[in-house]
This record gives sequence, C-alpha cells and structure tokens, in this order.
Amino acid sequence: MDLVTTIAGARARRKADRAAGRSVVLVPTMGFLHEGHLSLVRRAHELAASVWVSIFVNPAQFGPGEDLDRYPRDLERDLRLLEEERADVVFAPSAEEMYPSPQKVTIGYSGLEDVLCGASRPGHFAGVGLVVSKLFNIVEPDAAVFGQKDAQQAFLIRRLVEDLSFPVRIDVAPIVREADGLAMSSRNTYLSDDERRAAPVLYRALLAARDAIRQGERDPRAVEEILRQVITREPLANLEYAACVGQEDLQPPTRIDRPVLLALAVRLGTTRLIDNMTINPEEI
Ligand code: PAF
Repeated sequence: MDLVTTIAGARARRKADRAAGRSVVLVPTMGFLHEGHLSLVRRAHELAASVWVSIFVNPAQFGPGEDLDRYPRDLERDLRLLEEERADVVFAPSAEEMYPSPQKVTIGYSGLEDVLCGASRPGHFAGVGLVVSKLFNIVEPDAAVFGQKDAQQAFLIRRLVEDLSFPVRIDVAPIVREADGLAMSSRNTYLSDDERRAAPVLYRALLAARDAIRQGERDPRAVEEILRQVITREPLANLEYAACVGQEDLQPPTRIDRPVLLALAVRLGTTRLIDNMTINPEEI
C-alpha cells in the first residue's frame, strides 16, 4: 500500500495506474475509520482494480463552532486498517497542500444544500462539493464510493457529478450499524456512556416510521410526527429535524406515493448524530 501526501505524488501514482491499465476507485474519508468506512473499501474492490482511500479532515466543510479541532484523528491506526483491507493507495494531504491559498470558488446547489442537514450547517455542502471536486480532479478516479449514512451528501454529489460532467461513477453503499442499530460514525466516540445507551433512539424512530408506512400511512407529516414522538420520548435527545422527503428531490411530498427518504438529525449532549432510511411504498 502506498501513502501519498502531495498532489504531485497522487498525480504521479495515478499515472502509474493508468500506464498499467488499472482502473481506479476512490473512497473519500475524513479518517478515524470504522467498520462503515471499511465496508466502503470492500465495496470499492468490486468496482475497480486499484483502490484509493483519501483521508482528509476538510476544514472547508466545518462551520464556526463546529468540531474541526476535536474531530478524531489517528492516521497510524487508519493505515493499519487499510493495509488489512488491501487498499492500494492512501492519499492523506495536509490542509496546506489542499488549500495553499484561500479558495475563491464556491459550489452551490440552487438551494438543495439548504434543507435537512444544510439548514443548520450553512456552507457545509459547499465545502464538501469543493473538496470532492478537488479530489476528483487530483485522483481522476473511474468510480467513487460514498456512504448512504450521509444521504444528502450522496444526493448532492450525484448532482455535482452530473452537472459538472465528472467522468466518475458514483456508488452509494448501505449504512453499517452497531448491534443495537446505531449507525456507525466517527463522531460516536464523542458520546458519554449514557448518551451511547440513548443513541439507538434514532434507529428506533426510523423503524417506527417505516412500520407506519408499511401499515398504510401515506401522509408525510404524520410520518414525521412519529419520528418526532419517538425522539422526544428519549430525555437525552434533542431533535434538530425529522423529515420525510422525496428521494428524487429532497422536497416534502404531498403524499407518500413514491420513494421517500426518512432523515433525522439529533443532538445527544454536544454530539450531533444523523441517520436515515429509504422507503419505496410500492415495495414494502
Ligand atoms: O463523508 C465524509 O467523510 C466527507 O464529507 C467527505 C466526503 C470525505 C468529504 O470531506
């Protein structure tokens, strides 16, 4: 496995893959890898010959007062895990390498970045779009794998790739959960013992909403109310949003008669957790 920390080094390594006729798949991450990330790496092996993983805690996607400084980092451990997963290349640039001067270009999505998570994280998806565009231009992958856990991110990256004609196939891999249903996330390490015990409430809320749709509920507002009720019954949980939106446009439908995304953001103490579930009313 090669560790590359500069853009020039990444381009040279990519050239070697091209010369050898190896297709490349990129798994963009912010490191502190867990089983969810490793499932993306395993998926990546199915998509291309050379598996690249980027590790970069992207300052551009953190707002003022967010957890950029305390975001967990452990490059040595990440490298060990990626070695075990047979990754071929790890691209781990510094912030100075990625942003040598203040960026002037910003990425907008005509308002799609202002709903759901974007409503409370202004600028977040602009920063994600910026770094993903840079990574795609540096690595020039044939494919890239993202996690469904960040459903809005996956949705916006698909738009970014389509609208900017990036020749990159986007693959979105399913959420990986702990045994009690908590979606895996690097931020789970912030949780106190009590908060960790409370955290599966997000999954319980999604299951309750899914059951209601299974039983015939087709009013999205009623489904959101079920999500809200389950979350507010947990004393440690503070709901940020509970949404039932169309999978194709992230907008509230008038009726659940097409595939929807149930999405939640909840604060447990100072930790913000997100989770989601996609539901096709015709298939449940
Ligand atoms: O999902 C993440 O970890 C990040 O948002 C990403 C896609 C690596 C961009 O920094």
